Amino acid sequence: MKPVVYVAREIPENGIKILEECCEVRYRKEMPPPSREELLAAVKDVDAIYCTLSEKIDKELMDSAPRLRVVGTMSVGVDHIDVDYATSKGIYVVHTPGVLTDTTADFAWALLMAAARRVVEADKMVRSGGWKIQWAPTMMLGHDVHGKTLGIVGLGRIGLAVAKRARGFDMKVLYYDVVRRRDVEESMGIEYVELDELLRRSDFVSIHVPLTPQTRGLIGERELKLMKPTAILVNTSRGPVVDEAALARALKERWIAAAGLDVFEKEPLPMDSPLLELDNVVLTPHIASASYDTRAKMAELAATGIVKVLKGEEPENLFNKDVVKVRPLEQVKMI
Ligand code: GLV
Repeated sequence: MKPVVYVAREIPENGIKILEECCEVRYRKEMPPPSREELLAAVKDVDAIYCTLSEKIDKELMDSAPRLRVVGTMSVGVDHIDVDYATSKGIYVVHTPGVLTDTTADFAWALLMAAARRVVEADKMVRSGGWKIQWAPTMMLGHDVHGKTLGIVGLGRIGLAVAKRARGFDMKVLYYDVVRRRDVEESMGIEYVELDELLRRSDFVSIHVPLTPQTRGLIGERELKLMKPTAILVNTSRGPVVDEAALARALKERWIAAAGLDVFEKEPLPMDSPLLELDNVVLTPHIASASYDTRAKMAELAATGIVKVLKGEEPENLFNKDVVKVRPLEQVKMI
């Protein structure tokens, strides 16, 4: 009998093809996506779950799936999965690191540039008939990017790719991370500083940390008040890393100049969010990795990871490496 994989969302077709080669695929393609109740019922007899960051893979869900051996998420972030619990139950977790690094870094830059040079506000002005004077010396003034200081919070793969792009803009790059990367400091010409110093000195702050108990609320009122009144904050990591209510106040009362946000505490962003009333913030719907090429690569990597685990092979995108001690791969093998 083939192992059963439940795919909780519509995904690029190449991912489905990989799974179909050796699994029975239960594809929940229709919109709207499954409710929590439907999800709990659907996983009762499956060997694998292919999910996205929108599905909460917690203790309750894993306990509802007694046959579950592997969860593949089409995301690099795994904060929607109780990984410790999965490990304790011998459930393998595979994700999609690497393939989305450059696409996400490109998008952090798109938000940075759009917020600095007021691209969205300017577009709205043109469309709404607000462009009355052909060229006005003081119209839509924004902030220069080139030659300024960029502060990167979290120098992982994506943070590093964002730093790399700053070279072309002749920027000074600072970074803060819990792990100091002396290996790249010299080669990339970047400087390690503590978080408070980074916030004080940077003209742009871009966040690239995973969401963990340690990073939740990392940027709150105190931190926003340390930033320059001309500074711009970009967040493409996870919403809860920033205290959103404090950020809305910071933008409204101009403790900082602007922000570019792709992620939010609650997604989709509720329509009563105070952020929606502000012109000095660019808002996008969690699309930093959303390019045709990258989403196809993510679909492939998550699917291949699931298949490898079910074949008893260790995939390169295994997140919880310790799981092999709880349930060795020979015991997972189903294909
Ligand atoms: C997207 O946010 C991801 O984690 O891949």
